[in-house]
Amino acid sequence: MNMIDPQKLPRHIAIIMDGNGRWAKSHAMGRILGHRKGAESVRVTVRTCRRIGIEVLTLYAFSMENWLRPAEEIRALMKLLKEYLDMEEDEMMEQNIRLMAVGKLDLLDKNVLEKLQYTMEKTSKNVKMVLNLALSYGGREEIAMAARDILTDGLAGKIKPDEIDQQLIQRYLYTRELPDPDLLIRTGGEWRISNFLLFQMAYTEFYFTKTLWPDFREEELLEAIAQFQKRERRFGRTSEQLI
Ligand code: FPP
Repeated sequence: MNMIDPQKLPRHIAIIMDGNGRWAKSHAMGRILGHRKGAESVRVTVRTCRRIGIEVLTLYAFSMENWLRPAEEIRALMKLLKEYLDMEEDEMMEQNIRLMAVGKLDLLDKNVLEKLQYTMEKTSKNVKMVLNLALSYGGREEIAMAARDILTDGLAGKIKPDEIDQQLIQRYLYTRELPDPDLLIRTGGEWRISNFLLFQMAYTEFYFTKTLWPDFREEELLEAIAQFQKRERRFGRTSEQLI
């Protein structure tokens, strides 16, 4: 903890939680048990972020592309998500955490969607941290949705073509209320962003680790934040301009 400067925390951390399947394989277990173990890392990570004062934590829990997985795995992930929401509801209230979700939520199982909407509503006044779950989420799909909605509003005379700028597009994204991620963490050894928050990550700092998600714990989260704090974020300017 003393590696971290509390004055220079990332406001928004986004995480691609990869490696549950490989973790399970290396422990001679089925993939679903890997996801179950991954849910424990979710609990630890939420608790740590809340404790150290992160404003927004976005977790890539289910991508649009994940709908292509075997039906049994999809069912298990939905069940796990519902269980997580059931178990963590009280904790979110106690810890003053607001739940949000981004993605094509109408594709989710009805019972998961209802529980999600109920928990989002129940926690909607909480202010200490936003836990944002990306579910049935795809970055390109999000941008296409924004384009559709902008055109609809344009045709209705609410916006003119020359009013379309970066800020306006931002207001049509799922994440319209949130600051852009400062830090992206991807576990599982892959170096790609897999259709996650494409518009929002223009200036995000990346931390890639080989650690598989079920093994990702507080110590490495703090290490990722410590590394982030050593980076110089120039946003296109020169070092000298930042002084
Ligand atoms: C990627 O690992 C992980 C997922 C597709 C699902 C993430 C879900 C969880 C961590 C658990 C449930 C989430 C919540 C919010 C309770 P993978 O299966 O692609 O792993 P592999 O690349 O090793 O096969």
